[in-house]
Amino acid sequence: MSTVNDSVSATHATPTFTKPDVVSMAVAPTMASYETLYKTYDWSQTEKALNWPRKNGYNLATLCIDGHPDEVMQRDALIWVSKDGKEERYTFADLKRETNKLANALTRLGIKQGDRVFTFLERVPEVYISVFAALKVQALVGPLFAAFGPEAIRDRLSDCQAKVLITSPELKGRFEQIMRDCPSIEYVIVVDREGTYKLTVETDPDVLLYSDLMASADAAFDVPHTDKNQPSIIHYTSGTTGKPKGAVHRHYSAVSQAATAKYVLDLQPETDVYWCTADPGWVTGTSYGMIGPWALGTTQLVYEGGFNPETWYKLIQDYKVTVWYTAPTAIRMLMKAGEAPVRAYDLSSLRHLLSVGEPLNPEAIVWGEAQFGHVFHDTWWQTETGCMHICNYASMTVKAGSMGRPHPGVVAGILDEDGNELEAGQEGHLVVRPDAPSFFQTYWGRQELYDSRFKNGWYYTGDRAWRDEDGYYWFVGRADDVINTAGHLVGPFEVESALVAHPAVAEAGVIGKPDAERMEIVKAFISLKAGYEDSEKLREEIRLFVRNRLAAHAYPREIEVLEGLPKTRSGKIMRRLLKARELGLPEGDVSTLET
Ligand code: PRX
Repeated sequence: MSTVNDSVSATHATPTFTKPDVVSMAVAPTMASYETLYKTYDWSQTEKALNWPRKNGYNLATLCIDGHPDEVMQRDALIWVSKDGKEERYTFADLKRETNKLANALTRLGIKQGDRVFTFLERVPEVYISVFAALKVQALVGPLFAAFGPEAIRDRLSDCQAKVLITSPELKGRFEQIMRDCPSIEYVIVVDREGTYKLTVETDPDVLLYSDLMASADAAFDVPHTDKNQPSIIHYTSGTTGKPKGAVHRHYSAVSQAATAKYVLDLQPETDVYWCTADPGWVTGTSYGMIGPWALGTTQLVYEGGFNPETWYKLIQDYKVTVWYTAPTAIRMLMKAGEAPVRAYDLSSLRHLLSVGEPLNPEAIVWGEAQFGHVFHDTWWQTETGCMHICNYASMTVKAGSMGRPHPGVVAGILDEDGNELEAGQEGHLVVRPDAPSFFQTYWGRQELYDSRFKNGWYYTGDRAWRDEDGYYWFVGRADDVINTAGHLVGPFEVESALVAHPAVAEAGVIGKPDAERMEIVKAFISLKAGYEDSEKLREEIRLFVRNRLAAHAYPREIEVLEGLPKTRSGKIMRRLLKARELGLPEGDVSTLET
């Protein structure tokens, strides 16, 4: 426990954007007064307002797609733009039909309640169709990020014994490299948008064409009665030790995802065009790139391609995006691209901007306000919480640099090492009560680890933070070694495992090194096996080795070769010491250091 120091208090003095006059706003926010709603709200109000459960219970596909009134069914649910600018539109009715067909096809393959179905695709419409089709048959769905390498795919598919992988001709090769380690996979379904993929006669696992399955499938499907606790989506997230762990969510999650889509994203489905830039391979991409907005009947833009300032602004202009949910690294990269591209496009459709994943620095907020005439609203949450927990709201004063205040329905706290609640101004563990319907149900196969995250009714987030006198929360850092690079969590252990698989690497210790643009970059310290010499060429080879095996975002951008790594007497590499030395900070307690 420590009292907020001068540098932290200084953040307090950062720009404040005073609460707007709600009456004069062009579009009145859904949450007129934070204070009032916080006092009166509980999650069940959203459930009642949306008329949930439905006749068949809580199936996410019913809540987000099939169950909308007729006029909403005719609305565009998905406006998809390909990398080369081609557009496809899907109404809610189109999505209902397509997901019905694929649900029938999956049923014919014998996929049933509880089976694990994974997608490994670029951001194409078939990801969305596959996720909701699998949810219709009550499978547990795992969307994988297309930048994953073979090791990352293997860790996930084998951990939860997946049965089906839906992928593309371009990405299938990565699965093939580790196929032998994933005997649970019975079917590989290939989405071939170009129509050029040739099926060879393969037996194990069966390789099927998505288009063949869809061509012969019935467009009617009876979504089975679905209990609120039925598992729905699994996202793997990184910890300090061990392999990534699969946070399992349930169909009931839609309640708090819809509530936050309404009150934080401020979605007003009759008029909004909403763009979430996150990939469906991460929780933001499913909670707010699928479930929350579609539960309300909102039109979403999805862009297949990656970050590019000109393209992004053009998309906002051409599709008249009104609500935009993105990430600090992207905002900082837009800042770097400067004012000229902003001026080259008509961005006047924008009315509400938000950010998630890493601390949003005050400069980015100030810049956003100057460029777009709107403040970026920071939101804090995690894979485990499933929905936004601490946020800034359209109708609330924004203190630049603060994550905001707990969402109505959320109770948060700051605790000391003994679990005592701390006063305003004191830094400690950020905890929340695990009450939101979207809270994770378990880590797949790791119940003990799941249980260890809870104490005295609090869920420990692994973050450190403090709260000011007005109830605003301020992020301080992680309480563990997990690295946050451009909004993606990376577990040091995963990178170290990939590094030591290289023939030249004897041992490896990995840390997050502060970075102005990406918040942190992955930095590796290694020692070499006898017979290997340090050289730039070797370091580049090792970087590529990790990049190709693990993931494009998780490889070490910096590698430093040391004679030996600092270890405890029991042989554990002391990352803390590596980090302190890198940053020129005090080394702290080194009594366990091997000498
Ligand atoms: O450390 C916090 C950071 O990202 C972690 C959660 O990462 P993940 O489970 O991958 O989910 C990311 C998207 C919801 C948190 O424990 N984080 C997330 N949002 C913020 C943040 N750190 C500071 N400010 C935020 N707004």
